[in-house]
Amino acid sequence: MAGGVIVNTSGGKEYPGNVTLYVIFASVVAAFGGLIFGYDIGISGGVTSMDSFLSRFFPSVYHKEKLDASTNQYCKFDSELLTLFTSSLYVAALIASFFAGTVTRVFGRKWSMFGGGIVFLIGAVLNGIATNVSMLIIGRILLGIGVGFANQSVPVYLSEMAPARLRGMLNILFQLMITIGILIANFINYGTSKIVGGWGWRISLGLAGVPALMITLGALFLPDTPNSLIERGHPDEAKEMLRKIRGTEDIMAEYEDLIVASEESKLVTHPWRNILERRNRAPLTMSICIPFFQQLTGINVIMFYAPVLFKTIGFGDDASLMSAVITGLVNVLATVVSLVLVDRLGRRFLFLQGGSQMLVCQVIVGTLIASVFGTTGEGEMDKTKAYLIVFFVCLYVAGFAWSWGPLGWLVPSEIFPLEIRSAGQSMNVSVNMLFTFFIGQLFLKMLCVMKFGLFFFFAGWVVIMTMFIYIFLPETKGVPIEEMNLVWKQHWFWGKFISDQDAHVERKSSA
Ligand code: BGC
Repeated sequence: MAGGVIVNTSGGKEYPGNVTLYVIFASVVAAFGGLIFGYDIGISGGVTSMDSFLSRFFPSVYHKEKLDASTNQYCKFDSELLTLFTSSLYVAALIASFFAGTVTRVFGRKWSMFGGGIVFLIGAVLNGIATNVSMLIIGRILLGIGVGFANQSVPVYLSEMAPARLRGMLNILFQLMITIGILIANFINYGTSKIVGGWGWRISLGLAGVPALMITLGALFLPDTPNSLIERGHPDEAKEMLRKIRGTEDIMAEYEDLIVASEESKLVTHPWRNILERRNRAPLTMSICIPFFQQLTGINVIMFYAPVLFKTIGFGDDASLMSAVITGLVNVLATVVSLVLVDRLGRRFLFLQGGSQMLVCQVIVGTLIASVFGTTGEGEMDKTKAYLIVFFVCLYVAGFAWSWGPLGWLVPSEIFPLEIRSAGQSMNVSVNMLFTFFIGQLFLKMLCVMKFGLFFFFAGWVVIMTMFIYIFLPETKGVPIEEMNLVWKQHWFWGKFISDQDAHVERKSSA
């Protein structure tokens, strides 16, 4: 092969340098972007189950819920209006991520994070002081724009700052912050739901301003990535930045590869047209399938509706929020496991192991629920079974949290060539948001219609996605981000889409 450098996944090509405190610090600050997303995921479910919030903004839902004498456990609390409130954010994020793609490419990654933080902050304030439904919805749209910008720019930022051998770990800081955001939100809801005056929801919604402030201020101090500096015509600053983040003077090999990647990228004036070219078929497919599958694991059924779900299986108000806190804790801890292992065991191993674990748990939870509520939805859940369900839900969350959770953000951010990386990440975010929206919107209807079969429905998808990974995703651990084309070229299926010439262009500098 031209250039003579073999990129393999068991170490691969390595540039000199260390992991500096500077790069760790920058990565942690950037990862704060995950907090705003996580906080929102965690806060919405709890707030929409607070009586004071419902009676004030959604009185019809509130009365329906109070009057609901139905004993069918599968068909409670179904309100389109309420789910629309929750999921409006995801539509806004979906659209915003496309604009974010351009900002991230043209102005640099940090300004996308900064802009996202500011808009989210305004949304949080609006929600905290809301006096009518319009203020709530407009606030949520602003939150969505913030999430769209942050989720588009942060994973790319992290993957570019990191040295190849620790890219997985640094990137997963983003998912870790998402899970911490969810957990904090669960705790806050637990506390504010007890506030006697019934205004606790204001605190829950308004406190979203805190993580927003953290990423907004943090972004001001963040350096831009060398890749982005070169892409925007600042080669000297890029060199300086490389020295700083790698902690060595010996950066020329990496620098020259970045220059080659950037020369390539200059030939591209329309990333959206370029992303459709044959040679980009593999990363494009991944950036659509991975977020789609991530949502089809069914994780957000747990994240959004854990309190409702646990209430349904027989826990009281308090206990159901508490169980949500427990799943939140498992989510954080299992993400740490992933962070530690991802650059050792690789992405594929975690995908395959996590997928199998989720599958087993879904089948068990579905069977337990079927054994109590059958197809009629009538029945009493005894304590042992209820606790067993919580246990397997936790095991399921753990499986997600060390596989599809973090990898759903990591893999799409590390597989695109520079010129379309930003566009590719926009695609990833928007597909993710689209299906988060669908799940948020449809879950309660699906539960009512499919009953316990819903768990088998998601289990079926987990089988498909695990096979997809096994067959189509090559290992990307340890491969320098601007060398990814060679991994695709070596793949038995995707290799057919990349001509020798395309692979060669990427290799020039390594010769
Ligand atoms: C997903 C979210 C999910 C969260 C749970 C993220 O990776 O994109 O939809 O709620 O993980 O931790």
